[in-house]
Amino acid sequence: MDKVYITFKIPNKGIEYLKKEFDVHVNPQQKPLSREWFLENGGEYDAFITMLHDPVDREVLDVMKKRVKVIANYAVGFNNIDIEYASRCGITVTNTPDVLTNATAEIAFALMLSVMRRIVEGDRYVREGAFDMWKPELLLGEETAGKTVGILGMGRIGRSFARKCRCFGMNMIYHNRHPLPKEEEVALGVRYAEFSQLIEQSDVISIHLPLTPETRHLFTWETFQKMKRGAFIINTGRGPVICEEDLVKALKKGLIKGAGLDVYEYEPEVHKGLLELPNTVLLPHIGSGSVKARETMSLMVGEAVADVLHGKTPRHKVAGP
Ligand code: DGY
Repeated sequence: MDKVYITFKIPNKGIEYLKKEFDVHVNPQQKPLSREWFLENGGEYDAFITMLHDPVDREVLDVMKKRVKVIANYAVGFNNIDIEYASRCGITVTNTPDVLTNATAEIAFALMLSVMRRIVEGDRYVREGAFDMWKPELLLGEETAGKTVGILGMGRIGRSFARKCRCFGMNMIYHNRHPLPKEEEVALGVRYAEFSQLIEQSDVISIHLPLTPETRHLFTWETFQKMKRGAFIINTGRGPVICEEDLVKALKKGLIKGAGLDVYEYEPEVHKGLLELPNTVLLPHIGSGSVKARETMSLMVGEAVADVLHGKTPRHKVAGP
């Protein structure tokens, strides 16, 4: 019987699905497996279901290639896996696109509203017992209507975010490696901008980019200096797209007005400066964290593993022979 290892407990759907025909093992601990664990055990299974914190690099793949046929990453992003080397090792890699698009775009939108309308600050104020009377100038925020939102990355999640912004009366510009076809731009109500234009013109920037060598530290002190004074930044893509040290400096100096983050440069560590500032809203990487999305992702990784172990091509293959 083929052996499958799931590196962190996921919703049951996919586990039950796999248990019908495979010998399924789930990491019993509520913490990530160490690199040493992978080096020691990586070659003992036919399939892995991995999380975005699992370091599947060359060395690990060299161990895995003895037996592993498929790695199904429980995420749409797969920067934790050296996919080019996985292909060379003959290992198929899959991800979980589409099913988490709306959930992640919702979190980006929630962060934008929270930071612009100071929702978390207000909640804290009430809980601390500070709410003693209605005041004309208490916790004044910025409205989204009429503001220009710059959407960085126009994949599925960026487009879903754009649809939400449109309902709130925002002007939308976007930057993407490849501009969208004109009809799609018109349907979404978005206008293409060069990266430098987007930086200079946006009242709020929302990042929907994968982590690649080109996107790492796209936002540094230099970038923040070019942003509109009083702009906001939202990141639900990958943390290292922003240099956190520089972000903290930009927030402290008032170059930008606030930040809403779901992802961090050194996740799960969060820069101390971000924790101390009142104008940041910080979430623990829950972009895809809806019941619907996470259950569907579970079934999706289960199906991907089964497909490969049955000799079929899985639906969401990102690498492999
Ligand atoms: C992903 O799937 O890549 C997300 O970051 C998880 O929320």
